Amino acid sequence: MTQELQQQTILRDAMRRLNMTRDAFASRIGVTRRALDTWLLPDESPESRAMPEIAARYVGEILGGIPEAGIYTQSAYSPTIDYEGRPQLLSIDQFSRESAEALFRTADMMQPIAHRKKITRVLEGAVLANLFFEASTRTRVSFGAAFARLGGSVCDTTGFTFSSMAKGESIYDTSRVISGYADAIVVRHPEQGSVAEFARATNIPVINAGDGPGEHPSQALLDLYTIQREFSRLGKIVDGAHIAMVGDLKYGRTVHSLAKLLSLYKGLKFTLVSPRSLEMPAHIVERIARGDHVIEQTSDLHAGLAGADVVYATRIQKERFADESIEGYTPDFQINQALVDEVCGRDTLIMHPLPRDSRPGANDLATDLNHDSRLAIFRQTDNGIAVRMAIFAVLLGVEHQVRHSMRDAAWKSPVSIGPDDAVFQGFD
Ligand code: NCD
Repeated sequence: MTQELQQQTILRDAMRRLNMTRDAFASRIGVTRRALDTWLLPDESPESRAMPEIAARYVGEILGGIPEAGIYTQSAYSPTIDYEGRPQLLSIDQFSRESAEALFRTADMMQPIAHRKKITRVLEGAVLANLFFEASTRTRVSFGAAFARLGGSVCDTTGFTFSSMAKGESIYDTSRVISGYADAIVVRHPEQGSVAEFARATNIPVINAGDGPGEHPSQALLDLYTIQREFSRLGKIVDGAHIAMVGDLKYGRTVHSLAKLLSLYKGLKFTLVSPRSLEMPAHIVERIARGDHVIEQTSDLHAGLAGADVVYATRIQKERFADESIEGYTPDFQINQALVDEVCGRDTLIMHPLPRDSRPGANDLATDLNHDSRLAIFRQTDNGIAVRMAIFAVLLGVEHQVRHSMRDAAWKSPVSIGPDDAVFQGFD
């Protein structure tokens, strides 16, 4: 095992590949859960401890014994992102459980950079075109920040009205033109299938950042990555988990991609909670049903959330349908502190792809949960940087250069990023 990989990356990768909870893994390597916890904390945490050499060697030996696990060489267990022979990320269908988890190892390696402790310049000279023909804040900025933290530069366009598409330019022309300017292209577009059309017109890496009600694969990857990291802390694994998806399951592309990705695991229970008019499309339900999963569909929020390990709330995608009234979507459809306290467990994770509609009467995930440590929404957005860095590094073929290239960051950053983060400290 190479010693240059951070111990946190090695340990998380080992637990993922062995499919073990933290407790099971600690007992497998003969240490206490507490010791393992301290080895997993980020280096800057005061309670972080170095894993003894002998333990590191033993973990390497255990992994060496798993068929196909290989050891930490460049060739074994490398993440790949490929769409019809091109380095492009268009659909979550491109992933197997193994290739998603291999990507997460790269994301773990990016965490010290995402936490602003380290820097790298592996993409120095590279240019990203961030093309958003539909509203976005976090996806556009987080892709841009991820590319910049790898050392690249970012060019942005936002809005359909200000683009040449509003003058009647075809997707083919836009794609070919931008390909002459940039080394990677992130596209969001209001029409389903449009990003795939864009990708067919170029050999440059393209990432689908949302195609209408279609897919949002990078969001699903960062959501699963977050679920795994949170579950690791809580002593759970993804197999056998109960996931409740709530809200606009018809037009919400994040839940389409996430449901398909989660269905690669075993024995999950999916509770799909929505008003009748906004149910999950049948083709996605059929896809989940191909695995050994239990699927329940309901419009009863209270019953739907009971016993869930993860509650994944979504915003009603009003911009995608003309009819303003949604039958059955009443104010008691809101996920708020009172409801969570009544029906959710102590360890239930509350997630949301954001943005949540915080205007009065919106019925979206309530802000009164902001001080509840079960609310994982900002851990999701923070993790998005590491996951998107990993996606770029893999698509542009620099993932093996990152760990040798890391240097200490020269500037000072606050210990906790948000004023309410204190309750979430020590969460690794
Ligand atoms: C979502 C989207 O655009 O699909 N946001 C995101 O990218 N995190 C969800 C939404 O707009 O409701």
